[in-house]
This record gives sequence, structure tokens and C-alpha cells, in this order.
Amino acid sequence: MEPLIHVRNKVALVSGAAKGIGAACAATLARHGASVIVADIDEPAGCAVVDAIVKEGGVAAFMSLDVTDETQWQATVDTIVDRYGGLDVLVNNAGIAIVHTLLETSLEEWRRVHAVNLDSVFMGSKCAVKVMRPGGRSGRGGSIINLSSVGGIIGAEGLASYCSTKGGVRLFTKSVAIECGRAGYGIRVNSVHPGNTDTPMFRQELEDMRRKGVVASTEEARKFYMDMQVLPEIGQPEDIAAMVLFLASDAARFITGAEFVVDGGLTAQ
Ligand SMILES: NC(=O)c1ccc[n+]([C@@H]2O[C@H](COP(=O)([O-])OP(=O)(O)OC[C@H]3O[C@@H](n4cnc5c(N)ncnc54)[C@H](O)[C@@H]3O)[C@@H](O)[C@H]2O)c1
Repeated sequence: MEPLIHVRNKVALVSGAAKGIGAACAATLARHGASVIVADIDEPAGCAVVDAIVKEGGVAAFMSLDVTDETQWQATVDTIVDRYGGLDVLVNNAGIAIVHTLLETSLEEWRRVHAVNLDSVFMGSKCAVKVMRPGGRSGRGGSIINLSSVGGIIGAEGLASYCSTKGGVRLFTKSVAIECGRAGYGIRVNSVHPGNTDTPMFRQELEDMRRKGVVASTEEARKFYMDMQVLPEIGQPEDIAAMVLFLASDAARFITGAEFVVDGGLTAQ
């Protein structure tokens, strides 16, 4: 019997896939049958992700993509459709965080965080919907999965710009899901909201807390984050990738405009 959750015969583009959650999404989607495009600004790390996937018997390729650049989005999506004959899954994962209080945050930093975390999701989704919808160059519908955060649901000290973008991603997702659903495009759009997840971004945050003297060690910082949760461990990138795989698969065919927390119970309290 065929497994319920798989992405065989699907072409998936994952942004920010050179590291952390994006890299885990790329590996998981490839392991479950998709041809995966690892897109990132970090070419050496992205190529290493591709090599690991190919070594495991998966299908993957690296493409250089700065998600803040609309021309690059268009070129990437066009190239994928030319090479693979279509695009079925877009994971808008690339993101950054600048941890500053409101008074420390410059307008330039605010705009940078919005460019990488939110403008990118707008541009990527627009390019994908254009090709995925009936009559588009791919034309067979699809699944768009946007990485928001628990910071898109609740606020966080020192992260006003980040939370602004992630809250934006949450409602952008629902609005596009409604448009695509009502238009009969066969495109589902959902958001995933990770909690504390052990990636380079998270480890940088632990290190910054130690450096600023908020905690004495990164171990203490890790415990600080763990104490926010119900489950007694920090999430792994693969925990988020499992949700992304489900949403990318046809097992989620009746799910759109929805938000999925993967946070060890952080937002349950
Ligand atoms: N790690 C967490 O605890 C956590 C929690 C909630 C949400 N998230 C979200 O999950 C996503 C992935 O986070 P992560 O922790 O894996 O981050 P990470 O910093 O570990 O990796 C992010 C990747 O995005 C790439 N990237 C950055 N700017 C880019 C750009 N302009 N164009 C293309 N690629 C770019 C980086 O090169 C890197 O490979 C982000 O959207 C983040 O906000 C993470």
C-alpha cells in the first residue's frame, strides 16, 4: 500500500535551504520523493545540502536566490519550470532576526527584516501562484508553505520587527489562501509556526544572550528557552520539516489558510 504522506512526482522549491530548518525541509522532502531546489544566498552551504541529499539517493539542485530580489525570484521559478516541467511546492523559509529593543532598532534594520521575512513571501508567493494556477506554465496547482513563528502569534521582547514580519506572514497566508481557493486555482497556502528550534539562528541567539550578560552561559540561555515550553527539549529542524512535508503532500488536500504551531507546547499556556 502507498504511504499516506509522500511527495513523489512533486517539484519543491525551498528558500533559505542551506542551513537550519530549510535544509531539513529540503532533505525531508527529497527523502519522501520530491525533486528539491535548494535556494539560498549561501552557495557553499547550499551545495553541501544538495550533495548530502544526492548521496542518499535523492534528487536536488542548488540555485542562488536572494529572496529580497523580485527579478531573482522570477528567474528562479522560470528556470525550475523549464528544467523540471513544473513547480508543485514552495516553502518560503528564508528569514533573519535582529534582536534589538524598539529604541535600539533603526529604520534600516526594520526594513531589512521586513524585506527578508515578509516582502520575500509576497514576491515568492506571487511568482509561484502565477505558474501553479490553471493555465500557468506549471498549471497543476500546488502547496505554498510559509514559515512564520510563534512570534507571529505572541509578542517577544527585543523582537518587535521580527514579530511584525511573522504576524504579517500569518495573515498574508490566510488572505492568499482565500483568494486561491475561491478562484479555483488548486493551490493551498498554509503557515507553520516553529517555537525554539535548534538551528544556527537559534544558537546565535543563545550566544548573543551570553555576550550581552543576560545569562552566564549558552547552557543557561538554552534552559531559559526550554522553561518557556511544556516539553523538556528544544525542537529539532526535522520536527518542523515533518509538518512541512505533511502540508506539501496530498494528505493535506483539504487544508488551506491554516496555521500550525510546532513549539513543544510554548503557546499552549
Ligand atoms: N530557529 C528557530 O527557533 C525559529 C523559530 C521560529 C521561526 N523560525 C523561522 O524559520 C525560518 C528558518 O529559520 P532557521 O532558524 O533555520 O534560520 P537560519 O539562520 O539557521 O537559516 C536561515 C537560512 O536562510 C538563508 N537566508 C538568509 N537571508 C537570505 C536571503 N536574503 N535570501 C535567501 N536566503 C537567505 C541563510 O543563508 C540560511 O541558510 C525563518 O523564517 C525563521 O524566522 C525559526
